[in-house]
Amino acid sequence: ELGMPTVGGSVLLADPRGYCAGVDRAVITVEKALDLYGAPVYVRKQIVHNKHVVQNLAARGAIFVEELDEVPEGSTVVFSAHGVSPAVHAQAAERQLKTIDATCPLVTKVHHEAKRFAKEDYRILLIGHAGHEEVEGTAGEAPEHITLVEHPDDVDALEFPEGTRLSWLSQTTLSVDETMETVRRLREKFPQLEDPPSDDICYATQNRQVAVKEIAKDADLVIVVGSANSSNSVRLVEVALEAGASASYRIDDVSEIDDAWLEGVSVVGVTSGASVPDDLVQDVLAYLAERGIGDARAIRTAEESLMFALPPELRRDLKSAG
Ligand code: F3S
Repeated sequence: ELGMPTVGGSVLLADPRGYCAGVDRAVITVEKALDLYGAPVYVRKQIVHNKHVVQNLAARGAIFVEELDEVPEGSTVVFSAHGVSPAVHAQAAERQLKTIDATCPLVTKVHHEAKRFAKEDYRILLIGHAGHEEVEGTAGEAPEHITLVEHPDDVDALEFPEGTRLSWLSQTTLSVDETMETVRRLREKFPQLEDPPSDDICYATQNRQVAVKEIAKDADLVIVVGSANSSNSVRLVEVALEAGASASYRIDDVSEIDDAWLEGVSVVGVTSGASVPDDLVQDVLAYLAERGIGDARAIRTAEESLMFALPPELRRDLKSAG
């Protein structure tokens, strides 16, 4: 068939992209809590790091707070997917709050590793970003034992007394390549370094980085949908650029696309972070199609089927509500 000549170009759509099992569970937890207990339901921190998800839940009656002292005594509060430190659990008990813990089970796994290493008196090198909620939660499990390592170059300044047992853990949403570089430098300097029982960077983070690398090598421009405070989304931009994309931008939604980005571009890669609803990606595809960049092809690098059960405390209440 003789079609119209393509004026714009084509789209490579990363697959997997978007929602991971932990985000899906956390969002459904707030929705079900609203249905079951009625509004308002308090949520400590953004349930997941996505502006649109938070806005939608707020419109349905969720109240997002930074800290528990903003939650009236006796209310119901959901803990976000990023996890909380034991101090937050203690504060909730003190304020007699009903808590539902939507911490991603893959973050909880890292908390367990931190506790175990601390019990065995290891110094734990936690690779992650200062101030990120997940890091605050994990570090809170063993504050006396944890040293934060933000960047491969930070390794040079680390010093520990002879005979210190060392292990490392990481935030779940880091760049795989950069983390491996940090670990390589740690091991070079501290040969006694012991690995965690399994990788802490989660399957979703890894899969999205593999997928974006695959599209980035053939794309002039890679658009990443995700919020500015979403660690895994921000990493996708970095990984796309490292993998050879000429340009890559993160946007919260289609309204942030600048048409100047599309000038002279023939292949556009599109992906999204683990906290991003896919309708935001579909809006981007529609926008590109209107500009003649319409032939979207999914590039699948992994199959994902993981799902997590809802928090047990919520399941129990759902069950007794019939
Ligand atoms: Fe969990 Fe990884 Fe998603 S840690 S919340 S599955 S990005």
